[in-house]
Amino acid sequence: MTKSTLRNIFMAGAFVLAGAASAHADGDAQRGQEVFAKCSLCHEIGDGAANRVGPQLNGVVGSAAASRSGFEYSRALNEARRNGLTWTRENLHAYLANPRAFLTGGRMAFAGLHDEQEREDIIAYLATFE
Ligand code: HEC
Repeated sequence: MTKSTLRNIFMAGAFVLAGAASAHADGDAQRGQEVFAKCSLCHEIGDGAANRVGPQLNGVVGSAAASRSGFEYSRALNEARRNGLTWTRENLHAYLANPRAFLTGGRMAFAGLHDEQEREDIIAYLATFE
């Protein structure tokens, strides 16, 4: 059995539990690619990605916050980096659920992804780019 078959079985199980297990569910990077449509207004990712309204997002999962070169971050996000903020999966969950609540004074004008599974999927997608 391949790893992805196993994962599909696991995902099906999580679905049957109607979200009870979703906090532990793996994201689906392919679904995350569709979710990225909501981000691509401001962000690029992949080969040749450049900073736009928001910074390019290659390698962002696990990296220090506000560390993309050549992007002018808000004071709030620069300060968060100095205080040690790293984009762990947990922090990305919290930020993407509600950017303004996570970071007062941040500049990401995005309402947030309220669906936990969507956040799992987008984080899995982001993690495929080094
Ligand atoms: C309306 C434009 C906009 C949209 C839409 C948007 N972002 Fe952002 N994003 C920004 C800006 C601007 C920043 C920089 C924030 C700051 O400096 O406070 C940012 C910062 C980030 C960061 C932190 C990057 C770093 O280098 O620390 C991540 C991660 C991120 N966005 C992910 C996403 C994802 C994933 C989506 C889609 C679900 C998304 N953003 C949607 C504008 C946007």
